[in-house]
Amino acid sequence: AIILAAPAFAQDYPDRQISMVVPFAAGGPTDTVARLVAERMSEDLGQQIIVENVGGAGGTLGAGQVAKADPDGYTLLLHHIGMATADTLYRNLAYDTLEAFEYVGLVTDVPMVIVSRQDFEPADFPAFIEYVKANADTVTMANAGIGAASHLCGMLFMSAIDTSLVTVPYKGTGPAMTDLLGGQVDIMCDQTTNTTQQIKGGTIKAYAVTSGERLDIFPDVPTAQEGGLPDFEVGIWHGIYSPKGTPAEINERLSKALQFALADEGVAKAMADLGTAPSSAEEATPAALKEKLESEIARWKPVIEAAGVYAD
Ligand code: MLT
Repeated sequence: AIILAAPAFAQDYPDRQISMVVPFAAGGPTDTVARLVAERMSEDLGQQIIVENVGGAGGTLGAGQVAKADPDGYTLLLHHIGMATADTLYRNLAYDTLEAFEYVGLVTDVPMVIVSRQDFEPADFPAFIEYVKANADTVTMANAGIGAASHLCGMLFMSAIDTSLVTVPYKGTGPAMTDLLGGQVDIMCDQTTNTTQQIKGGTIKAYAVTSGERLDIFPDVPTAQEGGLPDFEVGIWHGIYSPKGTPAEINERLSKALQFALADEGVAKAMADLGTAPSSAEEATPAALKEKLESEIARWKPVIEAAGVYAD
């Protein structure tokens, strides 16, 4: 057998700081997860991982930038379920999702909450559904662009209640939250990593969670399924990728650093406080992420096609 020796640079990797691209604006849920794991991964790697926010087009601009980066292990992408849904939503994607990246591992799977501005009228989720259906032409729903998790959840919600709403796109749900808090936009479906603090503080209202079971942090918020939307369940899994051609030794080294970060008590506690949990060591591997991405593209393709939602 021909033993392909690892390129010289792989042996003393990393010997300088690493860029981790987050394809959404700073201050949102993806950014929060990235900064949490990057800090601990840096400790294990002995080099700083710098988070770089590249927002726009529902995460596909940032993903496309990493697809074109040098495969030397010094540019990474931390992205979520949008990596899978964009593959169907965007018919002219700047990269081939399953050909342009290598895999490091899964990071966490975050539940979502349907939330509103603080003074939104409906008292509970059934009343929320009735109100939104009756006022479909005035209720505004924020998201982070076609391909974002907030877009996917919004699409599932609109399909479930058979109603289309006015949607307002942002470069991330960090900026969207600012408008929700200010009352400039009415509702949003966003991850617990970006809504927990505001819900607990009473500055926004939580109507339902999109997890199969109620969440420990919000025991009195019903699931969407309890609220009468039977097959409405979605979790936002996150993964770390490198550009195609990045040596396997480097992806494996990064996976070890990710597993180190996810095993850290502080990371587990911070994630629990935000309604989520770290992926397991087995999930934080290249094979697990590859399998997840491939199966999720296949899972969401028919759902998106049935909704007839595409980005031009
Ligand atoms: C999303 O909806 O995908 C999130 O808003 C992304 C983000 O801002 O982190």
